[in-house]
Amino acid sequence: LENGVARTPPMGWNSWNTFGCNINETLIRQMADAIVSSGMGELGYKYVVVDDCWFNPNRDSSGNLQGDPSRFPSGMKSLGDYLHGKGLKFGIYQVPGTKTCAQGTGGYPGATGSQGHEAQDARQFAAWGVDYLKYDYCSGSGTINDQVTTFAKMRDALAATGRPIVYSINPNSFHCCTGPQRNWGDVANMWRTTEDITNKWDTGNTNGYPMGIQNIVNITVPLAGNARPGAFNDPDMMEVGRSGLSDTEQRSHFALWAMMASPLIAGNDIRSMTSATQTILKNANLLAIDQDSLALQATQVSNDGSRRVLAKKLANGDVAVALFNQSGSTTTISTSASAIGLTGSSFTLRDVWSNATSTTTGAISASVPSHGTVVYRVSRTGTPTSPPPTSTPPTSPPPT
Ligand code: GLA
Repeated sequence: LENGVARTPPMGWNSWNTFGCNINETLIRQMADAIVSSGMGELGYKYVVVDDCWFNPNRDSSGNLQGDPSRFPSGMKSLGDYLHGKGLKFGIYQVPGTKTCAQGTGGYPGATGSQGHEAQDARQFAAWGVDYLKYDYCSGSGTINDQVTTFAKMRDALAATGRPIVYSINPNSFHCCTGPQRNWGDVANMWRTTEDITNKWDTGNTNGYPMGIQNIVNITVPLAGNARPGAFNDPDMMEVGRSGLSDTEQRSHFALWAMMASPLIAGNDIRSMTSATQTILKNANLLAIDQDSLALQATQVSNDGSRRVLAKKLANGDVAVALFNQSGSTTTISTSASAIGLTGSSFTLRDVWSNATSTTTGAISASVPSHGTVVYRVSRTGTPTSPPPTSTPPTSPPPT
């Protein structure tokens, strides 16, 4: 969507994966503090997104949306001011219809969707200082036409406010398993490609609830052609730093999201994350790959069911290559410079995790553990192509 924002994939944090409906303004402020003190804010994790369950189920006497007075007693504008004061940006969740997804599953009473109130609600969000709207199609007829019309109305309403607002949509809740995948780049800055993620490697679902990391990759990789500045496939918020995935799987998850030019929306409790989690979320080489200005999603070079190779072209002429082991045991995965689109006689490989470099005349290969992903940034040797390896900033303990 050409609305001036999200020229590279949006980065930030969202309350849903860890907290579900258990949110309030104190929690969100603490998270913002931790995002700043951990150094994540300056690395680009800017959008702090308050997901479902922030609402007062009733509009005020003028028909305006309101925050839940017990959870957000200071009001939503005050929360936006707090986030902006920290150098962060304010994201919020809303639905078009009369039910949120949590309410749909019996979790939380009351929502007042924006259908028929698009202009008023968009103005309200702008007045609160909202910089990012997650608009979740949780009730409605579910037809693709209804979704396009519904999402386009809010797109236009946001544009009419004049405030730059990232528009993140979830068109999948009602048509994931039956409907067509659509390139939503004419409507939104980012759109979910699957049903909800969960903290498991593989749930066996091809596009049902919930989805594991491997399942989401399977669906999102073929959609590579959609990605461009302002418009990104969204394989959902990250499970890095939550239980359920091994360290290798968490690294793979993050590396594959970066390769897929995915929005990097952390879903863990930033206040208490381990140094292992920080090492993943703050990996400067992968952040640079995700945030590359070409905004291209990696395309598939090969996949034999076990060994999958993805390549992402970067703005300075480098190519990032991912060697992803989908099998249950360690294996060697190989490709070549020419297979990933590079010509020349000598190349430098930088391992994104260790920062170690090696040179090759063309062969690219690594031993990769089960569910692991080795990523190299590949440059033609002698060309000053790679960005300087930035070390991650020192970590300060999260506020208690
Ligand atoms: C849907 C979305 C989730 C989350 C919940 C909230 O399931 O896909 O990301 O926003 O709704 O209820």
